[in-house]
Amino acid sequence: MSQKAQIGVTGLAVMGRNLARNFARHGHTVAVHNRSYGRTKELVEEFGHEGTFLPAETAEQFVASLERPRRVVIMVKAGPATDAVIDEFAPLLEEGDMLIDAGNAHYADTRRREAALKAKGLHFVGAGVSGGEEGALHGPSIMPGGPKESYEALGPLLEDIAAKVDGEPCCVHVGPDGAGHFVKMVHNGIEYADMQLIAEAYDLLRQVGGLSPQQIADVFAEWNSGRLGSYLIEITAEVLKQVDAGTGKPFVDVVLDQAEQKGTGRWTVQAALDLGVPVSGIAESVFARALSGGADVRKAAADAGLPGPSAGAEHVGGDLRADVEQALFASKIVAYAQGFQQIQAASKEYGWEIDPGAMAKIWRAGCIIRAKFLDFIKQAYDKQPDLSTLLVDDYFLNAVSGAQDAWRRVVVTAAQQGIPAPGFASALAYYDGLRAERLPAALIQGQRDFFGAHTYHRVDREGSFHTLWATEDRAEVSA
Ligand code: 6PG
Repeated sequence: MSQKAQIGVTGLAVMGRNLARNFARHGHTVAVHNRSYGRTKELVEEFGHEGTFLPAETAEQFVASLERPRRVVIMVKAGPATDAVIDEFAPLLEEGDMLIDAGNAHYADTRRREAALKAKGLHFVGAGVSGGEEGALHGPSIMPGGPKESYEALGPLLEDIAAKVDGEPCCVHVGPDGAGHFVKMVHNGIEYADMQLIAEAYDLLRQVGGLSPQQIADVFAEWNSGRLGSYLIEITAEVLKQVDAGTGKPFVDVVLDQAEQKGTGRWTVQAALDLGVPVSGIAESVFARALSGGADVRKAAADAGLPGPSAGAEHVGGDLRADVEQALFASKIVAYAQGFQQIQAASKEYGWEIDPGAMAKIWRAGCIIRAKFLDFIKQAYDKQPDLSTLLVDDYFLNAVSGAQDAWRRVVVTAAQQGIPAPGFASALAYYDGLRAERLPAALIQGQRDFFGAHTYHRVDREGSFHTLWATEDRAEVSA
């Protein structure tokens, strides 16, 4: 075979197909393969005019059509399906060739796969790709991990197809082995938190403010031109102004109120628990989805007539819409600060040396959480790469300081009127916990020492101590 492809894509469902088309549209010759050849043929028949595709019926033909070092993009369902494709292609590859997993794989799987394939002389790159089907075609944000030397051969191709901001690609080598998939996972966790906060803002404007979905759509459209401007705010306005054709009702009123989840938000929280990073905003968003999906227990609550507050008090002290905007912005800052703290903690744990500012930079376009706001995050980490939390950066400190009275009013109103706002309330609790001079954790240490002799430290001297609670004088001893 004379003509060789610079890159190949196996797995031609919509995401894989769109990535292949994106590579072809950028002038690359693209080998394409799918378990069922029919889908491969369809792709070439329908989109062959967009560039040069080399369709392959078998894995062997696919590999043979690739130039060295071979670059094989795997775009299949995360989990066993990915392992099956690796097992099919790895034996056909040679030293220095690379497999790129562009699915939403769990970073621990990516670390395992990378180590196993390195032992065979192959490169394995776990690359987070964010932006959905449209992003894959028109420019995603791409978060490749894997060996640094892989990026030399692979990076230029990924940067070609990535979204651009001021001509700069939303793609950078994140770090070794599973770093790319870890960052993508946290991106999704932040996405969950962002979506939850937006949903709470909508709920308050609807239930407390009495606004219609169309009116709230207008509010979000207005917010989208300000500091909250982002893809998620933009699409929220679109979803809220949608009218259901069949019933003539607002679309949001005919959708079953049970949020589903494929798992990346859950993984983020599980990883944060292991790292000891309090991602309360992301956790509350995962639990809020689980609560909404708990049809049986929600029915039991409804049947039992769980009482709510007496007649709702008015939102006092401020204009509800303006206060909700402040609460949304402050809570969003907390959620992002927590997500970035988790990335820094993992980077330290795994020795990935991730540049948080670079992550903010490649999230400015192409991905689901793309937002103007990310420019300020990038600036914060450019100023201080080892920033312990975004909340102490001048811009964010001032933004939260200016928002906190309104934020507190909103949390009070939600509580008084029985509107669930776990995102707003937990973000405020996190903020107050972070700035507290003394926390009640001292009492918890005392309790733990009382029932389990788990010892405690003191504020006034070094060392560990235990109190002999069962004795008359309850003397304190060094532990
Ligand atoms: C993205 C999206 C993508 C997917 C979500 C859906 O970055 O392009 O986040 O990865 O649409 O993972 O996740 P849930 O089904 O868990 O909401």
